[in-house]
Amino acid sequence: MNTVTRKRLVAGNWKMNGSRNLASEFISALSAFSSETVDVVLCPPAILISSFEQSDVIVGAQDVSQFDSGAHTGDLSVSMLADFGCKFCIVGHSERREDHGESNELVAEKALKVLEAGMTPIICCGEPLSVRESGDVKDFVRKQLDAVFTHIDVSLLGNAVIAYEPIWAIGTGKTASPEEAQDVHAFIRQYIAEKDSDLSHSMLLLYGGSVKPDNAEALFAKQDIDGGLIGGASLKANDFIAICQAAN
Ligand code: 13P
Repeated sequence: MNTVTRKRLVAGNWKMNGSRNLASEFISALSAFSSETVDVVLCPPAILISSFEQSDVIVGAQDVSQFDSGAHTGDLSVSMLADFGCKFCIVGHSERREDHGESNELVAEKALKVLEAGMTPIICCGEPLSVRESGDVKDFVRKQLDAVFTHIDVSLLGNAVIAYEPIWAIGTGKTASPEEAQDVHAFIRQYIAEKDSDLSHSMLLLYGGSVKPDNAEALFAKQDIDGGLIGGASLKANDFIAICQAAN
């Protein structure tokens, strides 16, 4: 049972999906959802971020460059994201790590850039199936977190969010059970407590991986699960709102 008074956060990650029409649909659908306890953010593809500019929807990006400006074709800087009203930015999603070879260290660099721009990084971690099967999940996640906590002073991390997304649960319909997810979340919170006790109480830990309206409530009821990072179900307004309501 989650009895802690941390705020809840539900973030939708559209990945490489969506359109201006879908953005309009979500602007009207989300205007009907309001909650004192749940913050909702949508992370559409970068080209759609400006579609939300005139709305109340809080937006985030799915990635950012570690550089400030210059000769980096195809990349976007934190100042560009901030200029277009982004408040959040996902860093270190497993698909970025896999498709673009992003290392733990690069992810930490990006997270620092986001924090320095006054935005919230949603820092992703999580293991592939082979690691889950070999039983080394916590060692694997610890290495991912070590890079972040080595590169970024703990005093700067108050505005960061961590998302645990086991790769075998992403887009597979195979969710981690609430107990499996809670087990890793408790480990992450304990890891943070070793760095800074106050931060461990305040930091939001999201679960991601096949969260759907019918499993969200059981996941969010767990002590250390403060919300979700939602992929497929964030593309259907009704499903996404049902998940936001489950966090309420
Ligand atoms: P799914 O909800 O589609 O499994 O995706 C999770 C995810 O990767 C969110 O970042």
